[in-house]
Amino acid sequence: MYNEAQKLLLDWYAKNGRHDLPWRQTNDAYTIYLSEIMLQQTQVKTVLERFYFPFLERFPTLQSVADAPLDDVLKMWEGLGYYTRARNLHHTALTCKGILPQNPEELGGLKGIGKSTAHAICSFAYHQALPILDANVKRVLCRYFALSTKDEKALWEKAWKLLAVKHPYEHNQAMMDIGAMICTPKNPNCLACPLAFTCKGKDAPENYPKAVKKAKVPTKKRFALVVFQEGKLGLIQRKERLLHGLWGFVQIDEKPNTAHSLGSVSHTYSHFKLELEIIHDDALHVNVDGYFTEEEIENLALSTVDKKIIQKIFSPK
Ligand code: ADE
Repeated sequence: MYNEAQKLLLDWYAKNGRHDLPWRQTNDAYTIYLSEIMLQQTQVKTVLERFYFPFLERFPTLQSVADAPLDDVLKMWEGLGYYTRARNLHHTALTCKGILPQNPEELGGLKGIGKSTAHAICSFAYHQALPILDANVKRVLCRYFALSTKDEKALWEKAWKLLAVKHPYEHNQAMMDIGAMICTPKNPNCLACPLAFTCKGKDAPENYPKAVKKAKVPTKKRFALVVFQEGKLGLIQRKERLLHGLWGFVQIDEKPNTAHSLGSVSHTYSHFKLELEIIHDDALHVNVDGYFTEEEIENLALSTVDKKIIQKIFSPK
């Protein structure tokens, strides 16, 4: 049964796969690793159009990442979000001294590299017979095997079962493409799917996995303080986990009576929406980590919401 499904899948990939994606045109483990990390939480289009090439231009090897200060890595990650990925990449470049290990257990033990990413790197760079299990592949497997829940252990077993061990590279890329192009969360196109013939979930694909109601993300309202000194803006370097190392405006929970408003910005993170009123207050003494001109700020890594504030201040509509 699986031989037939595997064959159809591989034929489909040969004809319809996204072969021109740049990380599919190389066997360099570092570039493949970089693409996998970027693609963990960001869409192919965004990675391709704005981040992958500039990052590789600035950091052509893992050693060049290890040699650079974290601030430079964060700067190239600016706007991509989930900055822990950039900090882990830098940490991993240093721990493995610029050379990635080639076995999946060692790779999976490095910061920011989970089992599926380790398998992706090993199958794409070295053609090792290992399955992957990212969010898209999980959905494809749940539907193919008519599984209502995304139980990790059961899914890994199914992933191993379906893997075309002689062609792990093509198999894994094909599974990703099916997940992204055909077996989409809404309106899957089963008529175009090479797995439909043996798919157990094809009569009701949207039942697999069963939808779990997502809690609505809460909204946090805060205030961003604009501090000026001699034409320069006062910024802090963030210490909190989510945005550690990025520069930005001081944020406070309460609006001082003496403050006046300069507008507002908002940004949605994975677990909450942040609404920031931009305020200025001459009467307030605020400690910052440095003062910068508009030009100097261009060279700092700022989070998206802080960039939105900069945009408001320097080019208000
Ligand atoms: N998402 C994660 N890895 C990918 C890959 N190799 N190709 C396309 N999308 C992906």
